[in-house]
Amino acid sequence: MADKNIVTLRDVHHGYLIGKKRVEVLHGVDFAFPEDKWCCILGASGSGKTTLLNLIGALEKCDSGTIEVDNRDLSQMSRSECAKFRAGSIGFIFQSYCLLPELSIRENVMIAARLNGTSAKEAAEKTDSLLDKVGLSHRKHHRPAELSGGEQQRAAVARALINDPALLLADEPTGNLDEETGNAIMELFCSLRAERAKPLSIIMITHNRDLCRYADLTAELSGGKLNCKN
Ligand SMILES: Nc1ncnc2c1ncn2[C@@H]1O[C@H](COP(=O)(O)OP(=O)(O)OP(=O)(O)O)[C@@H](O)[C@H]1O
Ligand SMILES: [Mg+2]
Repeated sequence: MADKNIVTLRDVHHGYLIGKKRVEVLHGVDFAFPEDKWCCILGASGSGKTTLLNLIGALEKCDSGTIEVDNRDLSQMSRSECAKFRAGSIGFIFQSYCLLPELSIRENVMIAARLNGTSAKEAAEKTDSLLDKVGLSHRKHHRPAELSGGEQQRAAVARALINDPALLLADEPTGNLDEETGNAIMELFCSLRAERAKPLSIIMITHNRDLCRYADLTAELSGGKLNCKN
């Protein structure tokens, strides 16, 4: 059987209107991300990496072309279908953690499960188990501001994986962390991935070429196109 792709981009164009000027960011991206692989995306600042990840994550619709994620054509989905699909199938991790400051770590993770329709009891059980796996049981009743950067990112990893997504999208997940803490987050990805029953595909943007050693393949965004580096 042919290997499956988790994400397929065909002739994807996207740009923004800045003032009266149209800036084209993606100029016909053709790329397939294989399922169950970890792919790193490199590229200069402003090359369009976050734009690309937001399109794959169904946060924005591309101007033209098609994007399929887990066999679903994003262009054919309504906003509410996109939101539902995101909640159940995609986990997001950002450089700045993006935890809700007023909620405890436990609540931050639980709310992602509740938004995906999980009952309160099951959400609590899954959250406690996952926070244990990421080494944060002792911090779960604290608010994000009371945690270190590495701890906050561990909580964000738990939030991203609470619904067992098929795809994890990470935008510079170690960008705010020192080398040792960043490597610990990468090791956490590895261990959580290894113990999952179903495949987890990862697309990770990074400026740190050293981190590509964790990936199965590396691609570079340049001139509005994505090309494989290995
Ligand atoms: N919402 C927006 N409105 C207008 N222009 C935008 C918007 N988002 C991104 N851009 C423009 O698109 C281009 C690509 O931005 P993007 O954030 O995707 O780059 P990036 O590769 O992620 O950069 P960095 O490595 O600095 O994070 C930039 O020129 C940026 O100004
Ligand atoms: Mg970016």
